[in-house]
Amino acid sequence: MIENLTIRPIRVEDAAAINAMRRMDGVRENTLGLFSERVDRSEQYIRGLTENDFQLVAEIEENGEKKVIGTVGLNVYRNPRMRHSASMGILVHADYQGRGIGKALMSKILDLADNWLMLVRVELTVFTDNERAIELYKSFGFVTEGVKKYAAIRNGEYADEYIMARYRIRE
Ligand SMILES: CC(C)(COP(=O)(O)OP(=O)(O)OC[C@H]1O[C@@H](n2cnc3c(N)ncnc32)[C@H](O)[C@@H]1OP(=O)(O)O)[C@@H](O)C(=O)NCCC(=O)NCCS
Repeated sequence: MIENLTIRPIRVEDAAAINAMRRMDGVRENTLGLFSERVDRSEQYIRGLTENDFQLVAEIEENGEKKVIGTVGLNVYRNPRMRHSASMGILVHADYQGRGIGKALMSKILDLADNWLMLVRVELTVFTDNERAIELYKSFGFVTEGVKKYAAIRNGEYADEYIMARYRIRE
């Protein structure tokens, strides 16, 4: 587990760190990032977040400098008949994976979903060979609902994705 870890809402100034993580080996192939992405795109994304979008970052202090090393997002559907549900996405800097950052980000965003938004359904998609992410999601109660065949292009191939979801039905 990493010390000095802070989880806080994203800021526009985080755009460069988000851009770098989306482009890097070890992240890009498991997300929908592209090597050619510009910082502008991340900046626009952050500026475009609404009250239905919840985006957090994981930040550490290293040699006296703060560094953003992960992010998680929860996007609540705007349709009035789907506002009990949201989609989510997560990524951690390649050099900091496997050290509990993903778990910490998931705990925070799911606490928000469960106890502050009282969402019934949180859903996501994940490449079928992304074992680390699948294990993480299962450990938080996500189940596999189905497979999207040929869902996204990855390094010269059409890769399959699982649809996973987690339900919180209250009596
Ligand atoms: C998937 C990802 C978010 C996980 O974050 P992380 O910080 O690396 O994961 P953590 O260290 O918090 O590990 C949490 C859990 O993941 C699982 N896990 C971690 N490393 C694993 C590995 N090498 N193999 C299988 N499962 C693993 C375990 O269940 C682990 O829990 P445990 O430590 O109690 O056993 C991160 O690796 C990442 O960003 N990968 C690239 C981008 C990506 O895949 N994003 C998700 C797209 S759907």
